[in-house]
Amino acid sequence: MNPFCFGSIVENEFFTDRTEELQLLKQRLDSENHIVLISPRRFGKSSLVQKVLTQIQRPHITINLQQVLHVRELAELIVREVCALYPSEKIKHLLSSFRILPTISTNMLLGTIDVTFQPNIKEDVALEDAMNLLSNVSTPEKRLIVVFDEFQEVVQIQKGLDKQLRAIMQKQKGLNYIFLGSQESMMTDIFEKKKSPFYHFGQLMHLNRIPENDFRSYVVDRLPNYVDNSPIVDSIFAFTKCHPYYTQQLSSAVWELMTYPRISEDVVEIAIQQQVREHDLDYERLWNSLNRTDRGVLRQLCFSRNPMTSRLDPSSTTYSSMKRMLKSGLLIKEDGFSIEDPFFNRWLQGYLR
Ligand SMILES: Nc1ncnc2c1ncn2[C@@H]1O[C@H](COP(=O)(O)OP(=O)(O)OP(=O)(O)O)[C@@H](O)[C@H]1O
Ligand SMILES: [Mg+2]
Repeated sequence: MNPFCFGSIVENEFFTDRTEELQLLKQRLDSENHIVLISPRRFGKSSLVQKVLTQIQRPHITINLQQVLHVRELAELIVREVCALYPSEKIKHLLSSFRILPTISTNMLLGTIDVTFQPNIKEDVALEDAMNLLSNVSTPEKRLIVVFDEFQEVVQIQKGLDKQLRAIMQKQKGLNYIFLGSQESMMTDIFEKKKSPFYHFGQLMHLNRIPENDFRSYVVDRLPNYVDNSPIVDSIFAFTKCHPYYTQQLSSAVWELMTYPRISEDVVEIAIQQQVREHDLDYERLWNSLNRTDRGVLRQLCFSRNPMTSRLDPSSTTYSSMKRMLKSGLLIKEDGFSIEDPFFNRWLQGYLR
């Protein structure tokens, strides 16, 4: 079996490093504090939180705000997750005090629960009841943890939703919230701007790339070793720069080539080209969807060896283009701006040559 895993939450033997972060998260969850965890896409937020939750064995639910279009849907999702987690006897009693009663049905075939409120209800009342359910099911022995993924969406769903949520949450005791987000600037606006209702509501943590030392031994141990594989691993890290997802993706492709047809010469380069070819159509579509300014920025970035660090004039079109591409995840900002996907970067170099 291929010993690398990418695209989903990694657990057990697929999960590496993050010892300090795990320790810190556990400590913080042992208090009444809430946590804000920020990183660019696919750096391992969900995997890290999943690992903590498995280790501490407390009841937990996850709500992904990207799946929510209306406040009513948010209320439904919260009730649904609580119903799936706790025995129905406990929930029935608590639901009976709801001011607006949802319809709850079980799909016997799929083993899933459906929760629906009528479309024309007072959504903020339904949400308040649903949010209060969270603190009502939580007990001092088994304190509930509520994870909000892609929390920056809160400002898009409905005006004032952030204010309403904060007003409810600040009165709640006996549970922890974890807010995850991959749009750094929006997340820091929500939690660091004085005017924002969520100003300093949780302790901020930034998740970085996995340190090379640790990640290296993970890859070395997993690649075939019928040849000295350390130069191969060097080339992998030179390309992925320790990005958790892309390192697993490239290592997986290299493992396949080294296992069958047992290629060991230039294997990383062959694997990169293979991946780029496989995504050719997606990359071309992506390129065609961009405007001229975006394309100009990408052209400049893909040929430069270092991230772009120069200060930009906020009124320039380049600045707004970079901001847009940062938001969509095409660019990543660490020490400077660079293209997030190293395979797309390579595709651009070939396409624009
Ligand atoms: N601790 C880790 N050890 C090894 N690989 C990891 C680790 N964390 C993340 N990865 C790799 O990165 C991928 C993405 O991880 P994950 O889905 O947890 O990130 P995320 O930040 O939640 O992503 P998204 O922004 O898409 O929600 C995983 O599938 C795995 O390949
Ligand atoms: Mg995630």
